[in-house]
Amino acid sequence: MSVHIEAEKGQIAETVLLPGDPLRAKWIAESFLENAECYNKVRGMYGYTGTYKGQKVSVQGTGMGIPSALIYIHELINDYGVKNLIRVGSAGSYRPEVELRDVVLAMAASSTSGINNSRFFQANYAPTANFELFMKASNYARENNIPIKAGNVLSSDEFYEDDPQAYKKWAEFGVLCVEMETAGLYTIAAKYNVNALSILTVSDSLVTGDHLPAEERETGFTNMVEVALSTLST
Ligand code: ADE
Repeated sequence: MSVHIEAEKGQIAETVLLPGDPLRAKWIAESFLENAECYNKVRGMYGYTGTYKGQKVSVQGTGMGIPSALIYIHELINDYGVKNLIRVGSAGSYRPEVELRDVVLAMAASSTSGINNSRFFQANYAPTANFELFMKASNYARENNIPIKAGNVLSSDEFYEDDPQAYKKWAEFGVLCVEMETAGLYTIAAKYNVNALSILTVSDSLVTGDHLPAEERETGFTNMVEVALSTLST
């Protein structure tokens, strides 16, 4: 058991899907995995291990934001030997061509979070996706006619910004959408020499003000999960 996860050693697979919402972890386990068993209920942050097409895989809720996500990611890597970490999350569109329900692969993550400022002595670090996971995900999407977009995303520390127009600066520089965890995931994966990829489904748009209904936010993300699970193939 680690500080926040009550699994025994060996109960968590080398590849873990990481939704922010613990109920989405439950939904993924029940909808996509065979023989899924719950290994964590501490703080209601569900974690499950099962198999997908015969391969062992886990799915662990992380909570919202970099500080919460990094607690789980740190323990998965350092206490349970996890090697492949794939975020499956939601995002808000920053650009007109990025529409509700679109799947976005985060090639890189800009951030308003302070986590890397002190780490790199006020210089800028560019957190990036693992190339192999990125290629597997994009190849699977192309072969299965799942439309994807790929590029820079913003990992924000705030869901509710003071200035509702602030997104336009990021959009002008090509940032596709906003979420709250990827920059932390990519940075710590690099630190511990493991692989990470963030796959996002667009749940709302700062451009149009539209958003998906709540039940679709929780369960309507099938394409994203299929793309994430495709990275298990060798
Ligand atoms: N996740 C989904 N939509 C978001 C938004 N608008 N801002 C931050 N994170 C999000």
